[in-house]
Amino acid sequence: FSSNEKTFNMPNELKELENICKNCTLCDLSKTRTNIVFGEGNPKAKLMFIGEGPGEMEDKTGRPFVGRAGKLLTKIIENVLELSREDVYIANIVKCRPPNNRVPTIEEAESCKPYLIKQIDIINPKILVCLGKTAFMYLMNNNIPISKIRGQIFEYKGKKVIPTYHPSFLLRNPSAKKEAYKDFLLIKELL
Ligand code: URA
Repeated sequence: FSSNEKTFNMPNELKELENICKNCTLCDLSKTRTNIVFGEGNPKAKLMFIGEGPGEMEDKTGRPFVGRAGKLLTKIIENVLELSREDVYIANIVKCRPPNNRVPTIEEAESCKPYLIKQIDIINPKILVCLGKTAFMYLMNNNIPISKIRGQIFEYKGKKVIPTYHPSFLLRNPSAKKEAYKDFLLIKELL
């Protein structure tokens, strides 16, 4: 009974958390945002992606990964993982766009992190994929170049954490797609 009850409550819990985020003023990114980008997808996803922060399109629409990098991520989800965006959950380290898409500061990341941790707790995915160094660094408190750690399996609260290249990096460096492909094959195998 209690597990049914939990399943039933899950989307509500996410919705409540999203409403809290909508009113958040914990850091200065709240002053320049158009919309918060809470995250979206299957609230019971086994696979959760964590990006860095909203870009221009995301800030405008309130949805994660909908710009050029997002189109590439969507293609990878569909073509390599053979899933749809609706099967997975997509979120970011910070919920508000950093001006000019700069990397979020440690203060911004730390003030926003409790929202992400709560999302992870509610969704309870099997695998967390950190897209790029920033996502991995702020989730794991570990400042290692992404090229050194990509495709390796780490652990966070009993979940597998796999860092890989950020899709924006792949757009700028298409030769890295070969390695990213391997990472996604590993992710598919572990799902
Ligand atoms: N880049 C990110 O890291 N996150 C988004 O939501 C979009 C682009």
